[in-house]
Amino acid sequence: MVQVAVLGYGTVGSGVVEVINTNHDSILEKTGVDLHVKYILDLRDFPGDPNQEKIVHDYEVIVNDPQIQVVVEVMGGTEPAFTFSRRALEAGKSVCTSNKELVARHGTQLQQLAKEHGASYLFEASCGGGIPIIRPLRTSLSADVIDEITGILNGTTNYILSKMIDEGLEFDDVLRDAQQKGYAERNPEADIEGHDACRKIAILSSLAYGKRVDFTDIYTEGITKITSADIRYAKAMGRTIKLLAYSSRQKDQVMAMVAPYLVEKDDPLFAVNGVFNAIFVHGNMLGDAMFYGQGAGKEATASAVVADVAEAAQTLGTGVVSSWDPHRQELKDVSGTKKRFFVRAKGAARELSEMEQIFGAVEPVEAELDGEFGFVTGVMSEQEYETCASQAQGILGMIRMRDRKGV
Ligand code: HSE
Repeated sequence: MVQVAVLGYGTVGSGVVEVINTNHDSILEKTGVDLHVKYILDLRDFPGDPNQEKIVHDYEVIVNDPQIQVVVEVMGGTEPAFTFSRRALEAGKSVCTSNKELVARHGTQLQQLAKEHGASYLFEASCGGGIPIIRPLRTSLSADVIDEITGILNGTTNYILSKMIDEGLEFDDVLRDAQQKGYAERNPEADIEGHDACRKIAILSSLAYGKRVDFTDIYTEGITKITSADIRYAKAMGRTIKLLAYSSRQKDQVMAMVAPYLVEKDDPLFAVNGVFNAIFVHGNMLGDAMFYGQGAGKEATASAVVADVAEAAQTLGTGVVSSWDPHRQELKDVSGTKKRFFVRAKGAARELSEMEQIFGAVEPVEAELDGEFGFVTGVMSEQEYETCASQAQGILGMIRMRDRKGV
């Protein structure tokens, strides 16, 4: 029997206990491991809960119990999650987590520590919730050289954008609705400003390209500036708007960014709607592959955590080898990257010719909005766009175009 302790009895923590209890026999059959939850750490008591006798308030009980071999950290945040994870690994216990913030900040160090102590630090649920993506990158795709990852990695923002597109609503109204339905956090900043997606693409890129991508180096824009007017232009172009977390590698050069993009109808990411996530991966041998599923939610996330628990339990004493070069991967400056830009400007469409004098040839986009007009630039670098935009009068907004087949 493998004894497990769960740190945090919130949404994911209670899901983990439920998955271990409900699917105990099928996990045993498939993996040969007999999982048993011995402790649940939480500050609160849960009178009447079927697992109430397992609740402890003192971490020392867990870390000093030699029977505990796997610790599930689903507390969120960096402290005390980091200290608890570090101490568990130092005691030779494996740690499985869904905590993307902690993995992005301290994952390198915690993986090293796991290696030193013959334990595992596993984090399948940190990216894409229930979607298997970490293990495929670590094992199934290990024979490939990955050169691109593009993900819809945040369910909250994808839900908001989908709802704005389907119902023509404004950002603030949909955000309020998402909060009422419990999709968006009360403090939704990490989601809507793109920080959550940024941490997740940093984790995936570190794993795919083999060297530590620091999330603080990634250029990140959220969705707070997207309006119903943008949606009207997107529809007029037959496109949709998605918050994309993108990274690519060419030879030794890695670039990464998070920003809203106008996505074409035949792009595999076009139809990923609501709280769903998708991760598009391109490998030099594999070609295109896409991973799709529930990017958040109690059961889906818990299922990914428990699969890690089973793998950690199968490899007790040796640990799962999973790490990347701890040195910081230098990222290419995004200002040199080229693409087309959709631009909205104040005024009448006849003023397009003034824009052409600044941006060069542009394609108008008709969305019949009063007092403004929209156009798409030719292919130019971010730096060139910024220079042109600073010379033009009345720019209302810009969204990048994702053109997979080139223009
Ligand atoms: N806030 C995250 C999201 C939860 O909306 O995707 C899953 O990481």
